[in-house]
Amino acid sequence: MKFTLALLVLLFGFFSIGQNPLNIPTAITNTAINLTLQEGTTQFYNGVTTNTMGANGSLLGPTVIMNQGDNVSITVDNQLTDSTTIHWHGLHVSPENDGGPHTVIQPNDSWNPQFEVLDKAGTYWYHPHLHMQTDKHVSKGIAGMILVRDSEEAGLNLPMDYGVDEFPLVLQTKGFDANGQILVHTDLDTSVMVNGTVDAVTDFPAQVVRLRVLNGSSQRVMELGFSDNRSFSLIGTDGGLLSAPVNMTRYRIAPGQRADILVDLTTSQGDNFQLMSFASELPNALYGASQPGMGPGATGSLPDYTSNPLNGNDYQLLDINVTAATANPIQTIPSSLASFTPIQEADADVTRTLTFTSAGQMGDLSGPFLINGSSFDMNTINYTIPLNNTEIWSLTNQTPIGHPFHIHDVQFFILDINGNPPPPELQGYNDVVMVPAGMGNVRFIAKFTEHTSDTVPYMYHCHMLTHEDDGMMGQFLVTDPNASLETIEGPTWNIYPNPSSGSLTIDVEKKSTLNITDASGKLIRTVEAEGVVNIDLNAQPGVYFITDENGNSRKLVLY
Ligand code: C2O
Ligand code: CU
Ligand code: CU
Repeated sequence: MKFTLALLVLLFGFFSIGQNPLNIPTAITNTAINLTLQEGTTQFYNGVTTNTMGANGSLLGPTVIMNQGDNVSITVDNQLTDSTTIHWHGLHVSPENDGGPHTVIQPNDSWNPQFEVLDKAGTYWYHPHLHMQTDKHVSKGIAGMILVRDSEEAGLNLPMDYGVDEFPLVLQTKGFDANGQILVHTDLDTSVMVNGTVDAVTDFPAQVVRLRVLNGSSQRVMELGFSDNRSFSLIGTDGGLLSAPVNMTRYRIAPGQRADILVDLTTSQGDNFQLMSFASELPNALYGASQPGMGPGATGSLPDYTSNPLNGNDYQLLDINVTAATANPIQTIPSSLASFTPIQEADADVTRTLTFTSAGQMGDLSGPFLINGSSFDMNTINYTIPLNNTEIWSLTNQTPIGHPFHIHDVQFFILDINGNPPPPELQGYNDVVMVPAGMGNVRFIAKFTEHTSDTVPYMYHCHMLTHEDDGMMGQFLVTDPNASLETIEGPTWNIYPNPSSGSLTIDVEKKSTLNITDASGKLIRTVEAEGVVNIDLNAQPGVYFITDENGNSRKLVLY
């Protein structure tokens, strides 16, 4: 009996009685932002006390509203017993401010990034990013939304009254153990919640309402739509507004992705309908479909997957009641939105090829997964990108499951998916893209502007947090090869090409001793050069310095 009950709880989540009003996180609109990371408890289910983590509370965190051009100063105070980091997902900030796995905040310590908001109006978010601990800290509750506003958006007459006609919806599934505690790295994510509320119900006014949607789940892909199949307008994706609204009845959203949606409720007062994930319509080989993988033996390795009732079945996210309109409601949807020019393929300086494979047997769904044959290593720089490079990244997925690929620092434009140009809803700014299983290919293009560091890298990774924690991640430096270094006296030598793959020509006027060091100052090679010398610096990509006996120094970039 006890066993049966425990099993039921595992399979179907805790029993909940009735519905709970949708939590709307408070908004911070100051440019001085304080986030205190803390532990606490949450009652997701009546009578069940769950240990959770949050920012400025015991679960999730406030919505931070920023304006383009603001200079923000954020204090992240870590009151957890764990060390962690906080990453501003989607924002174009310097590597030191990005909050990746190298920027650790120790318990009882605080971190104070300060930056100018350069981003376009869009829906961003923040979450921990400590290597191998991201899923733990996110699943236990730390995540919050960032809304950036800009003047172009302000001219569009869009709903922008937070909590009145504009609603943040953080969609998540979580798994609980028999004691009501949150599971980490689980495929038993049987509980559905919006803004941390299970069985959520809310009122929306009978006018155009705006939903700022984030899929904050660790692994699950959702197929969004409404129970009565009413249509909605997608107006924005990860990093900005689209050029025009796209009218749809379904929108697929993968972990880490955001959607900016308008729903016209002007003639809907009194209606009751539900926001759903139509998971029965998900194609196989996405986490959340009835089969998470494709190919022979692909499903065998996620043993808990088939017992999770959310997989391949439609489920409710939010129950909606339409009530009277507010004063001065917005009643129309603009026909055009942002103006921008996607980066053209012909502008690319380089194409990088990334291939995803299973570390174990082919077809193994359980991971770990590799990128170009490697697992994440904190001490390896995978790419060095010269400042202002325009790059095509070509991603090929040789594994049996789709991976939502994310890159820091930039918003990209999708060039093609399996050789086909992207549909209108994927023609805007994105920082996460689903790379389909079974040899699926995605190419995107991005330009790496403004921010550089010779030592602190940016990340790229799968946004399924289990995969990321298991090493499906890499890192890159953006560096300025032309940054001027110390010149004590006119150097009598030259070294080229720069950047290079490591094959270098040194041209010295008079005999010189040249020391090549890495970014940490470690000596890599000493060259006694006279005349023209060719060397091959067999070293990993990164930033190096070459210095002569007089202290004249130049930066060398290896890609
Ligand atoms: Cu949302 Cu590198 O993460
Ligand atoms: Cu990110
Ligand atoms: Cu993945």
